[in-house]
Amino acid sequence: MSFPLHPVIALDGTAASGKSTFARALARRLAFVYVNTGAMYRGVTWYLLEKEIPVQDEAVVAQAMKEMKLETRFRPGEFTFLIDGIDPQRHLREGRVNQAVSAVSQVAEVRHLLVAEQRLLADLSPLVMEGRDIGTVVFPETPYKLFLDADVEVRAARRSHQGETDMIRQRDILDSQRRNSPLTLAPDALSLDSGQDSVDTLVEKALVHLAAKGLEIPVAS
Ligand code: DC
Repeated sequence: MSFPLHPVIALDGTAASGKSTFARALARRLAFVYVNTGAMYRGVTWYLLEKEIPVQDEAVVAQAMKEMKLETRFRPGEFTFLIDGIDPQRHLREGRVNQAVSAVSQVAEVRHLLVAEQRLLADLSPLVMEGRDIGTVVFPETPYKLFLDADVEVRAARRSHQGETDMIRQRDILDSQRRNSPLTLAPDALSLDSGQDSVDTLVEKALVHLAAKGLEIPVAS
């Protein structure tokens, strides 16, 4: 197991639980870089759909990973990436991507490629990294682990408010039951509920936990 050069806050949780909003707010408060690993899985899914690759065919998806060129980069405070030279950002929340991303995420070759890239990022900067397996697989050695969830009704309402079609219950089942790196609560993670607490309260609760685990918290500006 290799230790990252910088602190990593691992934030895992269910679909549409508000991980991105919370992770961004926490990263801003700590002046860490925010990394959304779900966006990477979505980017790969978009790439495969654009190439008309059958996403249910694991062997074909695995082969496609050998040809795909992924470039990662840091913008101030945030991480972005290009796939074959294209920024897929505006396509990541398309209905077809929502529908196919869980299938793509269970392919071992997809996970190997993306997890390796994610580990490299912690050598460049302190991170708040959100996903499904960050505290369990990507950085199991980090002492800073958070898990965000909310009732499925709250999460479905959030997506429909965002004007998106997203089968979140189905994605939760697929993400939690897959054989490769399923979504699970790490035993040493702090559980938070975004249906109960505002983003500010979630950040405050997280800071208390992270400080208790030894993270130096900068004075609020
Ligand atoms: O966080 P999100 O809903 O944007 O993630 C999209 C999908 O990507 C999710 O359904 C499962 C997959 N994913 C994953 O398998 N591992 C991660 N670390 C992050 C996301």
